[in-house]
Amino acid sequence: MRRETTYRRVSGDVDFGRALQVLADFGERVAVEPGNLEAASREMLAELRGLLGLGCMKLRAEISERRGISVETEGENGWWDAEIPIMRGKIRVGSLSARTTQTGIAPGEEQLRGLRAAASHLALAVDAAHARESAAMRAVHGSVVQLASEALGKILEEDRLYKTVLVLTLELMDASGAAALLEDGSVTGVGEFKEGLDALGEVAFPARKPWIGRIGDRHAVGVPVGRGGGALFLFRKEWPYLAWEGVSLKLVARQLDRARERSRMYAEREKTNLDAVAALAASLEMRDSTTGEHIHRAQGLAVEVAGALGLEPERLRTMRYAAVLHDIGKVGIPDAILNKPGKLDEAEWAFMRRHPKIGADIISRIDGFESVAAVVLAHHERHDGQGYPARMAGQEIPVEARIISVIDAYDAMTNDRPYRNGMSPEEAIAELDACSGRQFDPEVVEALKAVLIDRGREDD
Ligand SMILES: [Fe+2]
Repeated sequence: MRRETTYRRVSGDVDFGRALQVLADFGERVAVEPGNLEAASREMLAELRGLLGLGCMKLRAEISERRGISVETEGENGWWDAEIPIMRGKIRVGSLSARTTQTGIAPGEEQLRGLRAAASHLALAVDAAHARESAAMRAVHGSVVQLASEALGKILEEDRLYKTVLVLTLELMDASGAAALLEDGSVTGVGEFKEGLDALGEVAFPARKPWIGRIGDRHAVGVPVGRGGGALFLFRKEWPYLAWEGVSLKLVARQLDRARERSRMYAEREKTNLDAVAALAASLEMRDSTTGEHIHRAQGLAVEVAGALGLEPERLRTMRYAAVLHDIGKVGIPDAILNKPGKLDEAEWAFMRRHPKIGADIISRIDGFESVAAVVLAHHERHDGQGYPARMAGQEIPVEARIISVIDAYDAMTNDRPYRNGMSPEEAIAELDACSGRQFDPEVVEALKAVLIDRGREDD
């Protein structure tokens, strides 16, 4: 390899002025993406090659700190090659190389000037592209963080928090998969993520910084959530993550951590509320020996049936409270009626039928319990519209009330009363089936059967 510092003129015509014009035009109209420099400048380089009287011209993207131009030939009579760096500041982001049209003839000074001018125009185009891209990045970054904050602010259940964050970041950050490593070591995810799951636990995070690397055959970015060992990961097949994406994800993780704190506090408060409500309901136990145990059994079963019917978390909460409180109105029923050993007469029944309304009145005074009060009011309505107090029918009756109605009956039938022994579950279900579609919502009866079968399996 021989290096030349002075160059002979070449024989080919060089139209330097026109070449500069072509470069200026290129800078005006072309929209280059940083990774797309070569494709974007192909046409311009073909034209430039003709104007500068050069042979094949090539553009290559590369990141290095190598500086300076090189002009080399292989042997006295070989091809001459010139390579000009495209610099952004101190970093070389690419090279422009050209070969003379004839062997044994070095590139001329005008040709090299033309190449240098081309390299600096390309560097400007890359600069502009980076500026545009970072503006776009800031916009995406802002929307990911803002949407995460809005979505998380409304959710109180911890598992839904994770699911929401995963779906949101998967969509907005163009990932093919997203996964969360929970503090207990378990993993949850959306999209394609299974390939790298086993490896998630082994990723060691540098303190507080996003981790960018590869997991399995995927590019991955990961950030810790809180300080308990949990983490969020995104996977992408095609191209690597950039530092700003890691920062976005880190901000999302911080919001997730806060939302999780909030959800834990909420869960604790809900537990306290439920304990208080159960204590209130237990006051009935003092008067009506059947009610107390019945409340505990019915609550568990009602929430299971509601879950089997796919109720939303907010309605599961209503179910939980309504199951405990539905008979609270019995506090307003005189002992003589409530604990009467024999059958009630018509006047006593009329009194007894007031308990849903009394209960709803009591409960509606508690802030945030409006939906619970509505369910308590409706828990003696019937599917066929023959119930009380409002004679609602079918879907008009809140589903939580339809559930209580079925479970109340099932529990009453299967447990002993002072005046009779309880039925077997099979007999009680046959009885529910017989009344399904009249007294009871058939869908709820079926759901209860499914839950009881499941319980049976677990007991085996
Ligand atoms: Fe009742």
